[in-house]
Amino acid sequence: MRMYDVIQKKRDGLELSDQEIEFVVEGYVKGDVPDYQVAALLMAVYFQGMTPQELKTLTLAMMRSGDTVDLSNFGDATVDKHSTGGVGDKTTLIVAPIVAALGGTVAKMSGRGLGHTGGTVDKLEAIPGYETEMSREAFMEQVREIGIAVVGQSGRLAPADKKIYALRDVTATVESVPLIASSIMSKKLGSGAKSIVLDVKVGSGAFMKTKEDAERLARAMVDIGTLSGRRVTAVLTNMDIPLGKAVGNALEVLEAVEVLSGRGPADLVQVCSELSARMLCLSRGWAYEESLEKVNTALRDGAALYKFREWIARQGGDTFFIESPEKLGVAPVQVEFKAEEEGYIRFMDAELIGKAAAVLGAGREKAGDAIDPVAGLVLRSKTGDACRKGGTLAVLHTSNKEKIPDAVAFLRRAISISPEKPHEQPLIYGVVG
Ligand code: URA
Repeated sequence: MRMYDVIQKKRDGLELSDQEIEFVVEGYVKGDVPDYQVAALLMAVYFQGMTPQELKTLTLAMMRSGDTVDLSNFGDATVDKHSTGGVGDKTTLIVAPIVAALGGTVAKMSGRGLGHTGGTVDKLEAIPGYETEMSREAFMEQVREIGIAVVGQSGRLAPADKKIYALRDVTATVESVPLIASSIMSKKLGSGAKSIVLDVKVGSGAFMKTKEDAERLARAMVDIGTLSGRRVTAVLTNMDIPLGKAVGNALEVLEAVEVLSGRGPADLVQVCSELSARMLCLSRGWAYEESLEKVNTALRDGAALYKFREWIARQGGDTFFIESPEKLGVAPVQVEFKAEEEGYIRFMDAELIGKAAAVLGAGREKAGDAIDPVAGLVLRSKTGDACRKGGTLAVLHTSNKEKIPDAVAFLRRAISISPEKPHEQPLIYGVVG
């Protein structure tokens, strides 16, 4: 087989065979196929797309390039969740214990944040003592005993994706639905859960800026999962506005506890309830309405919070902050960000708000940068809310007061105020699968 012929076939819009795709992925990982030929193929895929069969084969080949987790001992109740990335997205901290409290099995690997989006592992590391690394045996034992464990993503998960992603990043081929879908799903399938719920974010703070693009990505990922024998549902959710009010690691952990205690911002509660219900439909076989009702009960009667406490303690985390939030640390510098005019918040650019939190210390510019766990911001008002001149729109938290002017500059660009109240935006755009 010649790489030249594979590139030519895709360039001309023909379907690649399973053997051709496996030849490319295996050859690239081994170093037999050079970067420039894979780059040419990626560009051909960018323009010609991929069929569902091609996508499935590409995804499985990338998955098989590394370690995979075998969760088959846990039967059909294993369920994972993946978010395509957003601002203020602390849903894993909430949905994982809800679902585990209701009999789902959550054996999960999560990632770190990069750029303006946060990562679950960084949030969990804001909890003193929490271990994001554990041996495979300890991970399995914990899942068997309490139905939940969340660790950092293994470096050996889908190494072909890592190599291809790095190439996409420098060849203008990141923004391709088949390439994003196969990249995400190679890691999700490798993580082993029978059921997967995908939270596909739409809007200014998300990869996919329009509903149509998000729908295409959701459909591609659902097809890959289904063709690979998994149960998959994708929920399209709004990321034009940050989710909840807190953006920043410790701040988001505290907001998650609020929700698990039956309180918390309504938008965050709604998205978490939807995701949890979808996870339960797939993993427990319950109807949607029944699942949603059980989720609401678990939030009200303390079952979800009980499971959260059990999970955090089991992974070494100190749970004292659940009763005394200040024990998670308090930023030494807290500055109010005020409205310059009166009116309604017409628009919030979630990406710029994420960048404001990141410069305060909540995020990293490049992999390996240190995080300030107490840094971030808390929004007092969100899109559609009325504000008065001089009223506080957000409170900035940081350990380094020199970061405040940069964060304020981002917020000034992020928040626009107008005299008219804007139309309400949907929080959940739809469900695929
Ligand atoms: N996240 C991934 O894991 N891969 C992509 O290609 C895009 C987002």
